[in-house]
Amino acid sequence: MLDSNSFIPYAHQSIDSSDIEEVAKALAGQSITRGPYVELFEKAVSAYCGVQYAVSFNSGTSALIAACHVAKLSKNDRFLTTPNSFVASTGAAYLKGTIPTFLDIDRSSGNLDLQQLEANINLPLSRGRTVVLPVHFAGIPVDMEAIDQMICNPDTLIIEDAAHALGASYPTGQKVGSCAWSTLTVLSFHPAKNLTTGEGGMVLTNDAALYQDLCRFRNNGIEKTLEMVAAYGPWYYEVAEITGNFHMTEFQAALGLSQLKRLDAFIAKRQALVSLYRELLENTPHLSLFSPKHDAYSAYHLFVVQIDFAACRTTRAQVMEKLAAEGIGSQVHYIPIYRHPVFKSTMAEISPYFPEMETYYNQALSLPLYVDLLPEQVEKVCKCLKQILAVGHN
Ligand SMILES: Cc1ncc(COP(=O)(O)O)c(C=O)c1O
Repeated sequence: MLDSNSFIPYAHQSIDSSDIEEVAKALAGQSITRGPYVELFEKAVSAYCGVQYAVSFNSGTSALIAACHVAKLSKNDRFLTTPNSFVASTGAAYLKGTIPTFLDIDRSSGNLDLQQLEANINLPLSRGRTVVLPVHFAGIPVDMEAIDQMICNPDTLIIEDAAHALGASYPTGQKVGSCAWSTLTVLSFHPAKNLTTGEGGMVLTNDAALYQDLCRFRNNGIEKTLEMVAAYGPWYYEVAEITGNFHMTEFQAALGLSQLKRLDAFIAKRQALVSLYRELLENTPHLSLFSPKHDAYSAYHLFVVQIDFAACRTTRAQVMEKLAAEGIGSQVHYIPIYRHPVFKSTMAEISPYFPEMETYYNQALSLPLYVDLLPEQVEKVCKCLKQILAVGHN
């Protein structure tokens, strides 16, 4: 638990006594992995999101790797995605040999620019498919219906990275995670996220065959059918492919199930804190916020401000250091994925092709946002930030 005088991190989990009780119950149970809590948690998340199938994993990254595997991504596919994300969203496809085509972003939301996507999504291919992986950055849902309407080739595959966006809705009312316009959606339950299981993730789908493939992928490629048991005996199984072990434990699922009961309350709390930030930061020179038009649908995962540090005669590093000296954490989401050496070694210098992402990256700063953050702490963050920016280098 954080007390109100301690350091204010940029993100923090919210764990209460009911979470601890549920985890303790799971630890006292018969099985501490692959048991009833895992199944209940999967059923509860799928019911919440309005999707048919949910398969839990031991991290969001594993869930992305599983999604790209069962969707059979290959080096022949054209993979369109955003550079404004955690490396795992591109990394999972890259592990399948797929070379990413990054698209520039819209600085009013931090999300993929849909005009750029429209210009690329139907370009002819001599082999493979077009695969689009949008990331609902900071909890702001990408307009999936608009993407769906762009698609001319029915082979086009959509995988949503909703690591930031559990609890968000599309403007049409469906929840993010419903897979209303995608084949697969991936969630993360890392402690910085809106709901946590410690480490953890999930893949959601309405496709029964993919559901089976995801379950097999999670379990070392093991296949065990009633026919096999009838033919050979109760111990028998077969391995169809080599994958790995990506199971979530019972006590993690118990934590997730307990947290899910408070998810809507968590989001309401985050929303109120964002409203307060907006009010307090309005008209701050050289500082801009994402467009409020997205606020109605967001899951409020991150609170990002964009600051023209040069105009304030300072640097981002100095601002972060001065905030830290006042007991305030901050973070940068994200370094453009194409800037990482792993991609730089296979691509030329491509940053000039991303003027919006580059400007955004130079200006982005995530301020503290989490359920137990107090309004007076938001006031402190805003007061300190404004003072630091006003003083600049002087
Ligand atoms: C957009 C995005 N995708 C994927 C992941 C990976 O999730 P995890 O940390 O649970 O592996 C993260 C986590 O930070 C993320 O922010």
